[in-house]
Formats: sequence, structure tokens, C-alpha cells
Amino acid sequence: MSYSIAIDGPAGAGKSTIAKNIAKKLKFIYVDTGAMYRAMGLYFLQNNIKIEETDKINQACSNVNISIEYVEGEQQVLLNGENVNGLIRTEEVGKMASSCATQKQVRLKLVELQRELAKKTDVIMDGRDIGTYVLPEANLKVYLTASSKERAGRRWKELTDKGIKCDINDIEKDIIARDEQDMNREFAPLKQAEDAILVDSSHLTIDEVIDRIIELYQHKSNSL
Ligand code: DC
Repeated sequence: MSYSIAIDGPAGAGKSTIAKNIAKKLKFIYVDTGAMYRAMGLYFLQNNIKIEETDKINQACSNVNISIEYVEGEQQVLLNGENVNGLIRTEEVGKMASSCATQKQVRLKLVELQRELAKKTDVIMDGRDIGTYVLPEANLKVYLTASSKERAGRRWKELTDKGIKCDINDIEKDIIARDEQDMNREFAPLKQAEDAILVDSSHLTIDEVIDRIIELYQHKSNSL
């Protein structure tokens, strides 16, 4: 039986950095489900599909092929066979990912792929609905969050370090809007699973969060 760790939480809480690190330490596969929604969002943008166009969305769900490959341990997302890792990290794609993630048919398509991955191997999977919907039987569930101010500050620093000019208040507004959309959609919204452990990273370093989750994992494994 494979082991699964679910990490859910809002945008910018540090899920991917932390999950990637833990995957290395535990020799698990890291599955970034947000990247799959981003690939779908990119397809919507490239093909000018609007969220109200149900027929086009249904068609896209049957025609589009999203798959995952690992190159030197790094997840690569393929959209109809093309590696789109370099195209999906923009704000525009992130926003569209959040919008297309409100559509049930999009979610059902991607959830199938996510469950397949978790069947084969030990995984640490991050997203919004992993503990509540994708892997309700996950061995360990963590809900990782931080205040919107803190998350905006981290994003601002990341962009400023790259030489990109931005306004911290605009970033915080976008983060709050994204949280609202992800938490209030009808199907599989972002929320803490009843059996998930809350970790608030607002006043913790990355290493402290990693250590805390590894501790939780060890505690759970010892009590099996
Ligand atoms: O984690 P991220 O920023 O890469 O995710 C982009 C969007 O995808 C996020 O705003 C909501 C959606 N998403 C989702 O609905 N369910 C998931 N399991 C992962 C992401």
C-alpha cells in the first residue's frame, strides 16, 4: 500500500516549497496539482475559452490531454504532449487556473489523474481539495496557511528579487480574491478537512514548517 500526505491551503502559503522539500527527505514523489489546473488555464487562455462557455469547456475536457512526467525528480506538466512548465507560473495563468477550477468537469478530469498517481507510489500532494476530496483516506493531512498580509509580503519579495516592480497592496487584494474564489466554489472548495492538522506558517521559517510536518509524519508512522 502506498503512503500519502495531503497538503492543502490557500495561495502563497508555501505549500509547494515545503512539499517539495519533504518529498526529497522522505523519498516520496511530489505532486503539484495546482500545476495541472494551471495547464488547463493556459489552454483556456490560448484558445480564448470563457468560463461561461460550457460547451467549449466540455469539449476541452474530452480533447485536452494533461499528463505528468518526472525529470530528475522535478514534476513536468505536459499539455497535449508539450512541456508547459515554463509557461504556467504567471499571475494571468494563476487567475485563469482558479477560474477554470470552479468547473466541475475540469476538476473531475484532473482528479482522475491525481488519484492514479497516488495509487502507484508514496506521494506528498499539494492543492486545495486533496484531504477533502482527492485523497480522503490520506495517511497524513495538513492544512497549511498564513495571513494574507504575510503571503502578500512573501510574494512581493519574490517578485522584487527578480527585479519585477509591484505593489504589495495590489498583491494582497489579488490573494484575497483568489482565496474567495477557491473557498466559495460549489464543487470541492478549499477548506480544512476535519482530520487535517492546521499549521499556520505566518511566524515560522520554511525549515520550521518542514520539521513540524516531518515530526507529524513520524508520530503517525510510529503509531501505525
Ligand atoms: O497552487 P496554485 O496557485 O498553483 O493553484 C492555482 C489554482 O488552481 C488555484 O487558485 C485553485 C486551483 N487549484 C484547485 O482548485 N485545486 C487544487 N487541488 C489545486 C489548485
